[in-house]
Amino acid sequence: MNHKLELANVTVKSIVILISGHGSNMRALLEADLPCRVAAVISNQADAPGLEIAKQHGISTRIVAHLNHPDRESFDSELALCIDSYQPDLIVLAGFMRILTAQFVTRYQNKLINIHPSLLPAYSGLHTHARALQDGVKIHGCTVHFVTSDIDQGPIIIQAAVSVHMDDTPATLAARVLQQEHRIFPQAIRWFCNGDISLSAGGKVLMKGLEQPGSALISPEME
Ligand code: GAR
Repeated sequence: MNHKLELANVTVKSIVILISGHGSNMRALLEADLPCRVAAVISNQADAPGLEIAKQHGISTRIVAHLNHPDRESFDSELALCIDSYQPDLIVLAGFMRILTAQFVTRYQNKLINIHPSLLPAYSGLHTHARALQDGVKIHGCTVHFVTSDIDQGPIIIQAAVSVHMDDTPATLAARVLQQEHRIFPQAIRWFCNGDISLSAGGKVLMKGLEQPGSALISPEME
């Protein structure tokens, strides 16, 4: 079956979204009127609340349960088979909480995009908000990046920064960062689908004619 749509000689890109949980980032993508077709949402957790949201949007859902597999290689093979059945141009990790094997990442080189709740390369891995608070940083945020086999270290597409408040808890900080995730993630996918970003030989993201902001976020505010 051909999952790509041909419109007036323009091929509409097709994406597959991978989730593990709530799916609020996936929802932001589904509601962003992106210039692509969402072919399917795949979860490694059968009870991920995001699956229901995807169904409400009329998107096909699939479950590839990591618990049914003895190791990462075997899980990633089934995941790849499932993904390939949709022939997507892009695979989007929207709160997908599995570490992927180098083999899987290589198979989808430059076609895998992730969102991470920190200003990478700071705070890769888990518990990013608690660790930022522990360190007393004044600015924290989120990053959308291409995935490489170095976990959370691939080429950065877009970042958003928020100020850290004195009375923040991991939960309040996470909520403010998540609001920004919902803004920058659709933007990054739109850029990809419109061909506005590419990768340099040195592995950096190049942008086609985009405005560079002149403003600075200073936190706390200066007097
Ligand atoms: C988001 O904050 C996302 O950045 C994070 O999980 C959350 C998923 O929320 N992803 C990672 O930590 C990946 N390493 P959501 O399911 O509501 O989109």
